[in-house]
Amino acid sequence: MAAGYWAVVPAAGSGLRMGGPTPKQYLPLAGRSVLAWTLDVLLAHPRIAGVMLAVAKDDARWTECVPAGAQDRVRHVVGGVERGDSVDAGLEQLARVRPTEEWVLVHDAARPCIHPQDLTRLIEAVEDDEVGGLLAAPCTDTIKQADDASRVGATLDRRTLWRALTPQMFRLGELRAAYAAARAADRVPTDEAAAIEATGAKPRLVAGRIDNVKVTQAEDLALAEAILRTRGLL
Ligand code: CTP
Ligand code: MG
Repeated sequence: MAAGYWAVVPAAGSGLRMGGPTPKQYLPLAGRSVLAWTLDVLLAHPRIAGVMLAVAKDDARWTECVPAGAQDRVRHVVGGVERGDSVDAGLEQLARVRPTEEWVLVHDAARPCIHPQDLTRLIEAVEDDEVGGLLAAPCTDTIKQADDASRVGATLDRRTLWRALTPQMFRLGELRAAYAAARAADRVPTDEAAAIEATGAKPRLVAGRIDNVKVTQAEDLALAEAILRTRGLL
């Protein structure tokens, strides 16, 4: 049987762009919370052994989002100020029980529409890779670089541009070392790939579905619901 890997899921954000008192991972999406949808996909996948959740201090709501029967495959840890701090906390906790050379997948709690086939595609594309990699989507819009006055400073060549998605998959020890180096340099990378890139390595880009949206603003909830409905999940 193929090995199962652990996923670290940062879920300790406060959702400032969404606004409102409830962090977006706990907002309702088609009758369940965003986090419940995300955990469902991860824990139902045959290649995922367990999930290390990073949650905000004093947050107890996460327990209600764990699918029935999966309680013993979910651990939690208190996250940090930035997303990278939360991921780092999850990695540290995971490293107590898993070997450093093992692959780990990092996936945003706020991406409930991750398709199981994309998980398979990422794992199969990366598990024999030297460095690791991430799901990403080629840019389809023409991309403008703004100057300080919000005027177009340049048009970039979109053929070389990709949007980074999650999951991102790297070796536990290498990812921890990359985050430690970033911390030492007073940098907080916005994704795992950026932490690894800073060490000089080049993560593999694995083309993923564009409907792996990150719930960020209010209208994204309606979009996510439409995506789940299209899949026949509602
Ligand atoms: N996250 C986290 N710890 C933080 C910040 C973010 O675990 N200190 C998590 C979020 O819960 C989310 C993921 O990282 O699942 C992606 O972050 P983002 O979409 O930026 O979420 P928020 O930071 O909550 O939203 P905002 O930036 O609008 O405040
Ligand atoms: Mg954020």
